[in-house]
Parts: sequence; structure tokens; C-alpha cells
Amino acid sequence: MKVRMRRLRASKVIRDSLQMNPLRKEQFIYPLFVMEGNDKAVPITTLPGISRQTPDRIVKEVEYCLNLGITKFLLFGISSKKDPKGEAAADPNGMVPKTLSLLKKEFDDSIVLFSDVCLCPYTTHGHCGVPDEKGKIQNDASLPLLAKAALTHAESGSDWVAPSDMMDFRVKVIREKLDDAGFSDVGILSYSVKFASNYYGPFREAAGSSPQFGDRSTYQMDYRDSRQAVREVLLDEMEGADAVMVKPALAYLDIIAEVRRNTLLPLAAYNVSGEYAMVKFGAKAGVFDEKKITLENLIAIARAGADWIITYHAKEVLEWGLP
Ligand code: PBG
Ligand code: ZN
Repeated sequence: MKVRMRRLRASKVIRDSLQMNPLRKEQFIYPLFVMEGNDKAVPITTLPGISRQTPDRIVKEVEYCLNLGITKFLLFGISSKKDPKGEAAADPNGMVPKTLSLLKKEFDDSIVLFSDVCLCPYTTHGHCGVPDEKGKIQNDASLPLLAKAALTHAESGSDWVAPSDMMDFRVKVIREKLDDAGFSDVGILSYSVKFASNYYGPFREAAGSSPQFGDRSTYQMDYRDSRQAVREVLLDEMEGADAVMVKPALAYLDIIAEVRRNTLLPLAAYNVSGEYAMVKFGAKAGVFDEKKITLENLIAIARAGADWIITYHAKEVLEWGLP
């Protein structure tokens, strides 16, 4: 007997009948960069199609996205106020709190807002935690400010806080802080599995958050050791995370699949800035068809097991139309 796989591929009709495309628009979370000022948008050169925008412009952007069917957004702040500790991360008059309350006033529960909680956009040195005299990032000393920042976001209308700093126990201290202040309904999407990756370059340009000394390898994960991924997820689960994340996505599909097998929590994958930039600049150079390669990437992330996909492609793929 000869098994001929080609019989299952013989026509479009049979191929379409067997397709398992898991990608749905409800999975998308669209990142937004909020900057200070009024009625301004500044394009990010290494992220073609994405801009930093002032709060009033973000409101218009969300309205446009909502009409396309994007209902979930992840807010990042860009700050000119920086100090060694990153105190501005918890400033209730900061751009993220301001935008959260504007958006909730305008769109209420028709959208779900996630807000990135970290210190790096607010520290002079660009690290995600507070360094000691020698420049070593201190874990426990960074926790109170992270928790304070999360609370400020909750008070401003954030539905879900998303800590991206990678300090141990931050989920625990954030959960306690939120509960003590009466925000038990605010969720925590933990950047549980965040690798020290070379794919974050365009984001750091956008947010002005590149480390000014050293790198993030003492707190972000080493991509040569995949076993820590499941441990990080299980620890965050015990600390009270409501959903977990793997980041980046495309070079980490094995990790997404492994985490999927080991948790029952919702799983987000972050299709990061460098992954997006590769598609954009590759397509521009004529290396591949932009729409087709984008869909292939996003379907791969969904197929690996992601429930939510944080992606800069969300708006354009819905403008193109999902298959
Ligand atoms: C910072 C943060 C980073 C990203 C999200 N939050 C970059 C970093 O760790 O330096 C990256 C997102 C992207 O590249 O799209 N806490
Ligand atoms: Zn950070």
C-alpha cells in the first residue's frame, strides 16, 4: 500500500475543508504608545505604521480600531520625567493614567484596557528596576514602586495591569496592593516568560527605554534555558496571576506550546517589535509578500497555543480582512 498525502491537497475545496486556522480577531491586543502633549503623532522609524501619540489622538485611534473589531489594547507610557528610581511610573498625572481614564470615560466596557507596568520608561538608566551603588538591579527594592504604579493604573481605569519588569514576587505584591485598595476585579496579565531578547530594539527606540549601562540579563530570561519557562509560569500562577505571557513569540513557538501544556490560565504571546520590523523591512525589500507572511506568522502563534496575541499587525490585518 502506498500512502499518498497529496490526495489531501488535491484541490482548494479539499484543502479548505481541512483547514484548522485558529486565528480570530477577538484574540488581538493592540499596543499603543502614549506621549505627552496635544494633537500630535510621531512615527517610530523602526516600526513602520506605528506612532507615539498624545492622549487625545489615542482616543481617536481606539475608536478607529474598535470599528475594525479590536477590543483590547495595551498601553505604554513615554516619559520625559525620569529619575534613578523611576518614581514617575506611579504619577497619577502621568500619560498612561490620563489616557486610561479618557478611554474608559469614552468607551467603558466595550474595550478592555491592559497597561504595561514597569520602571524603564521612567528611569534615567533605562533599567526595569532600581539599581544599587554598583549598578546591580535590586529585586526586592523595586517591588514597592511597581505595586504603586499598578495601583495608580487601577485607580485610573485599567482593567488589567501587565507587569513587564521580571522581578521575582511582583505579581504577589501587586495582587496584595490591588486587593487592599478594593481593586479585586482588576486582573494581572504577567509577562511571566520574558526573554532577554534582541528583538526589542524598535520598542526601546519608541519608548526611549534602552539600558544606559549593562543589559537586562540578570532579570530577563536566558533563551538557552527553556526549563525556566514553565517554572516562571507556575510561580506566577501561585502568586495570583490571572493570565500569563510568553515574549517574544515567533522565535519562541516551542515555549508557547510548552507553556500551553502546563497551565490552564489564558496564555498571551507578544509578537514583539523586532519581529514586526523584520516583516516590514523584508517586505519593503521585496523578500516576501507582506500580507501573506503576516498571516502565516499570526496563524503560527495561534496554532502554538496562544489565546491572546499582542501584535502591532492587529490593525492592518483587520483592514486587509482575516481569511
Ligand atoms: C519593557 C518592555 C519591553 C517590551 C515591552 N515592555 C522591552 C524591554 O524589555 O526592553 C518590548 C516590546 C516589543 O519589543 O515590542 N519592560
Ligand atoms: Zn521595563
